[in-house]
Amino acid sequence: MYEDRIRLASLRKKVMSAHDAAELFENGMTVGMSGFTRAGDCKAVPLALADRARQEHLQITLMTGASLGNDTDKILTEANAISRRLPFQVDATLRQKINAGEVMFIDQHLSETVEQLRSKQLPGVDIAVIEATAITENGAIVPTTSVGNSASFAILAKNVIVEINLKMPTQLEGLHDIFIPTYRPHRQPIPLISPEQRIGVPYIAIDPAKIAAIVITEKADSPSNVLPPDAETQAIAGHLDEFLRNEVRAGRLSASLQPLQSGIGTISNAVLHGLIDSPFKDIRMYSEVLQDSAIELLDSGRMTFASASSITLSKPTYERVLDHINDYKPRLVLRPQEISNHPEVIRRLGLITINTALEFDIYGNVNSTHVGGTHMMNGIGGSGDFARNAHLSIFVTKSIAKGGAISSVVPMVSHVDHTEHDVDILVTEHGLADLRGLAPRERAVEIIRHCADPAYRDALQDYFETACRLGGHTPHILREALAWHARFNECGTMLGC
Ligand code: COA
Repeated sequence: MYEDRIRLASLRKKVMSAHDAAELFENGMTVGMSGFTRAGDCKAVPLALADRARQEHLQITLMTGASLGNDTDKILTEANAISRRLPFQVDATLRQKINAGEVMFIDQHLSETVEQLRSKQLPGVDIAVIEATAITENGAIVPTTSVGNSASFAILAKNVIVEINLKMPTQLEGLHDIFIPTYRPHRQPIPLISPEQRIGVPYIAIDPAKIAAIVITEKADSPSNVLPPDAETQAIAGHLDEFLRNEVRAGRLSASLQPLQSGIGTISNAVLHGLIDSPFKDIRMYSEVLQDSAIELLDSGRMTFASASSITLSKPTYERVLDHINDYKPRLVLRPQEISNHPEVIRRLGLITINTALEFDIYGNVNSTHVGGTHMMNGIGGSGDFARNAHLSIFVTKSIAKGGAISSVVPMVSHVDHTEHDVDILVTEHGLADLRGLAPRERAVEIIRHCADPAYRDALQDYFETACRLGGHTPHILREALAWHARFNECGTMLGC
């Protein structure tokens, strides 16, 4: 029974199969799809689009909120349906095509995509494909487990395809807070002064005449694929916990800290999980994605409220949250990603942000995206939105990768996503470097001493001391600065052949 989910009765005649809806796409179109870190993505239309692309030349520019689930990026990539992709992805097949130069990937701050669309700095959206819980009496769209860029895609698109997912409980309605900033040059302040505040409406208001097709689905989101905490991630969480306790003791933070943001992935999830046994109370989150750890913190009572743009959970946690969504709803809100990640709001709320680095250098520059300086991993995501504007910007990583063949602490990062100016605290399993108020030469001492793996510590110290003899505010031996990465390419380990 889907009729009661399409409350504007005149739209019921727009219900059709995914394959019929896919006929609306034309080669070269720009398509905005819902979906943010595997949550709230469309489940049927992308597959039908891939079917078409297997039979004819049909390539699109694909924009989403962030990554998609259900192997959608993989399936579309294998069907050769994507020519251009933004602003984020995590799929191995797509990653390969991006790194082969066959798909053009625009790696963007997640807060910026719809700003650029709105100001026509990006090509306009031809079709928006949005997963929904329901369509209201006025033809407005009620999103599902993410908002991402869905609201602006639907508002700005010429045509909208809505996928109504019967798997999503109707009680999701009321979870979302859709606020669209006013247009430049007369932009008003975003009136959000605390994470729990609602400033918009619980649906995406569009002209119902733009809804060209409605497709009915019944499929859960892909479960998150984060791994459980291990010894290293627990050690990282321990260092951070101790640091935050000290900040409270020193009177720089209260026992409820500042609102927290935590990035995607295994390490961030483990770090947040570590707060369950902490003495902090009345914690609030203002983040872009809620992983299992956020729900555990809510369940434990340690956290009182969480604001985000998507909920991406393991299967058991997902089922529990959806089954009891009415219990969680008063403590959760999902916002458009330009609001969850908005620099203005992040700076105002004073967030403690925790994001993951692939590598960082002895002066505190962070690479979160490019393996070996050239090969895209996932993208910068929201990490730049949060880190640059944070009250306290924290980056975490394990000190080594690939069984020790790679040091995550290097003389010079091979690509910079977050400059030294955007990084306050660095943490590995070995310890924590507090960089606040330190000059580059002082930072290097802290980073090498506290964060580097013992197998690489002496080599980093040698590099630093030799560089200091050459002089400079940020001393480097330019000929050797990237030699560690080159050595890994030649020898399979940064330790040398
Ligand atoms: N050089 C090369 N590879 C490295 C590396 C380094 N210095 N450090 C880690 N890796 C590899 C790991 O070996 C692992 O590879 P595998 O998938 O082949 O096993 C992979 O990177 C992921 O590392 P992992 O330790 O499992 O961390 P993660 O799941 O927490 O992900 C990032 C780490 C950086 C890839 C991920 O957090 C990310 O994409 N960040 C950018 C976006 C972001 O921060 N968004 C935040 C707001 S949501």
